[in-house]
Amino acid sequence: MSARFARDEEITAWREDGWVLLDGLIGTDEIDAATVDLREVFPTPERYHADPVGETEKWLGRPPPGREWYVWPPHGPGFRPEQHRWQSQFPFPGTGTLNRLLVHPAIVDFVNRALQTADLRLYQAQVLAKYTGDTNYEQPMHTDRNHSFLPPLIDPQWLHVEAFLYLSDVHGGAAPTHLVSLRESAGRPPTVPLIMPDADPELYAAERPATGVRGSLLAYRPDVFHRAVDLTAPGGARFLLNVSFKTAGQDWIGYHAIQSRATSPHWVAFVEASTWSELALFGFPPPGHPIWDTALIEETARRYPNLDVTPWRVVLGRP
Ligand SMILES: [Fe+2]
Repeated sequence: MSARFARDEEITAWREDGWVLLDGLIGTDEIDAATVDLREVFPTPERYHADPVGETEKWLGRPPPGREWYVWPPHGPGFRPEQHRWQSQFPFPGTGTLNRLLVHPAIVDFVNRALQTADLRLYQAQVLAKYTGDTNYEQPMHTDRNHSFLPPLIDPQWLHVEAFLYLSDVHGGAAPTHLVSLRESAGRPPTVPLIMPDADPELYAAERPATGVRGSLLAYRPDVFHRAVDLTAPGGARFLLNVSFKTAGQDWIGYHAIQSRATSPHWVAFVEASTWSELALFGFPPPGHPIWDTALIEETARRYPNLDVTPWRVVLGRP
């Protein structure tokens, strides 16, 4: 199965329902090639389940005890810190194929069309893992308020795209995110921190699981109610690439600052393998930007020795 571009009705579903599962957007062959790099940051399901305590200590050390002001009960929905302990931020080590998925043409095309702009910024980039039994992954219904200083706006020009690219098959027992269509959550303000089941059983009854094969992309709007559910498959694990985009210039939206990792050799290798338009997704100035002069191009070429700076030179008139 190979990659495809989003269908028009999928763009419409994202806009009107608030979320869409683009089944098999990227081919399983490309996903499997990239997941080799996951082995550099997470244990395989087999290794984890053979020795959960030992593998956790090996990869994460012995984390200090939590100092949360509120400890969620073990059962039922909650925001437990352990739900997020297996995560790694871009740039990822390894062959570089996992990094390339962030700027996959099928994903960028979808977001271009969803946000109706060619001037995008990638503002969140991390891989996440879950393992059956590691914690109770079930969350209460919420919107993601930690991507913006502001409440979500409905006007399309102010929307952003949050997305999960599935790196493993996400079936019913593999903790598919549950989401509610905007049509069915109408009237609920997306500014509330969370909604517990007994406060709004109708909202919970309207949730749907976003199941899909690896290579599927779950994309949702910031005003969509959703929640994680527990991972129940025996010996199971779930891996995904979390990548989110906004329209350039919307400084109130953000999550990761990739500049803080710009000295990483994995970032250097990523830059050297990228086109100027892929780099522009990160805020790297494109050819023709007023910041460029010959000296800066030469210094940049020294910092990224294998980057072809011809496009920047050509625009200056000095190929
Ligand atoms: Fe969320």
